[in-house]
Amino acid sequence: MKGKRENWGSSFGFILAAAGSAVGLGNIWKFPYIAGENGGAAFIVVYLISILLIGIPIFISELIIGRKSQLNVVGAYKKLSNNSPFWSIVGYMGIFTAFVILSYYNVVAGWSIGYFFEGLKGTFNDFTTVELASNYFGNQTSSTFWIISWQLIFVALSVYVVFSGVRKGIEKYSKLLMPILLIILIFLAVWGSSLKGGSAGLAFLFKPNWGSINGKVILIALGHAFFTLSLGMGAIITYGSYFSKDDNILTSALWVVFLDTFIAIVAGIAIFTSVFSMGFNPADGPGLIFNILPTVFNKMPGGNIFGILFFLLLSIAALTSAVSLLEVITSYFVDNKNYSRHRVVIISAFITFLIGIPSAMSFGLLKDYQIFQKSFFDIMDFLSANILLPGGGLLIAIFIGWKYGYKKSLDALESGSNEWFKSNIFFAFLGKKVPAKKLSIGNVWFIFIRFIAPVLITLVFLKSIGII
Ligand code: PHE
Repeated sequence: MKGKRENWGSSFGFILAAAGSAVGLGNIWKFPYIAGENGGAAFIVVYLISILLIGIPIFISELIIGRKSQLNVVGAYKKLSNNSPFWSIVGYMGIFTAFVILSYYNVVAGWSIGYFFEGLKGTFNDFTTVELASNYFGNQTSSTFWIISWQLIFVALSVYVVFSGVRKGIEKYSKLLMPILLIILIFLAVWGSSLKGGSAGLAFLFKPNWGSINGKVILIALGHAFFTLSLGMGAIITYGSYFSKDDNILTSALWVVFLDTFIAIVAGIAIFTSVFSMGFNPADGPGLIFNILPTVFNKMPGGNIFGILFFLLLSIAALTSAVSLLEVITSYFVDNKNYSRHRVVIISAFITFLIGIPSAMSFGLLKDYQIFQKSFFDIMDFLSANILLPGGGLLIAIFIGWKYGYKKSLDALESGSNEWFKSNIFFAFLGKKVPAKKLSIGNVWFIFIRFIAPVLITLVFLKSIGII
């Protein structure tokens, strides 16, 4: 890219934008339905452990790679590995993953905008039972015209946002809307908890039944930790490339991870208290929130307005995530190929639309076409969230831990960090500055990225295919 690379307005701007990428359908649509399918609390514990031991160290690594290189995902690997062809391929894998995720992400985001309009039309007034709501959802998603139109409208909206560039576009939207979404979710969670039978939902979320855990469940939980934090394919590398050397990587990463996890848990409480109070099935699959929440809105005073606002904000949360995926593709072609930004955005968005059509039709015309009992939609989801992202994360950990190395990584991380970063980790948490011998935060992070994260990811892969 020519000239000076655009920066975020401030660390705060970055945190909001990265949170905009992280918080999306993953938290509000996907997390509840996969937690419901995989046994609830025990699944959530594995997901939280994955975030702590693997997600946070990799989040930091992606920020380092992005800020140090100031480049797109392919350029970043190329530059920091001194042009190694292998690492460039890892970069291209990130771009490929962005296409795969976007193809079906656009579909679900399309449902969400569609439901915003259903709310405006007053459709939720008819949903006196969850059965009525789920029949309606089944009808809508099997109508090819309905889904493809909304999918296309969503794609057009993301093109519009990426067009307006980094600060004006992404940052402006995130700042305004994320807090409103959080407030609505908190309200729904409190409302749900007060419903009769809602406490069974809380037990489902917080009382683990370890018997439900197996290799596949662990892989799905790990995959979701990557998916929800936008990790493993370069979205955070790309956003980190707009980071300046005075920004604090560690605290920014912790903030984003905290917000993302908090929102998922609040969404989980909102959904499962309602699911259980209505005596519904938690393992209802991808339609879960579309079946449950409109029924909740039906029963709530002023619920229609809430419903409209909820699906509007969910669509916007999806938009800020889709935009970060599109940005991975766009920044590569703009940096490297010198194509005009507008052309790249339109063409790549249109390609994601086209490859998303079979996913869109997986709930209707293509319902019976399944491979390994999975629809096209499920395959795209499984391939990206459970294989490409953790695989990409493993490579990121190996890159930082073994290729880029201790000294350079730590220097990169330290720039912009607080005083206490270099002090002994235990004293740092107590607010005292005691010079570290070995146990500084940076050193501990490096142990995680060099040893713990790669070993754990490998073990999960092996376990999921039954080798251990
Ligand atoms: N984190 C986003 C969500 O939870 C999805 C996403 C995945 C965005 C990977 C960017 C990269 O909805």
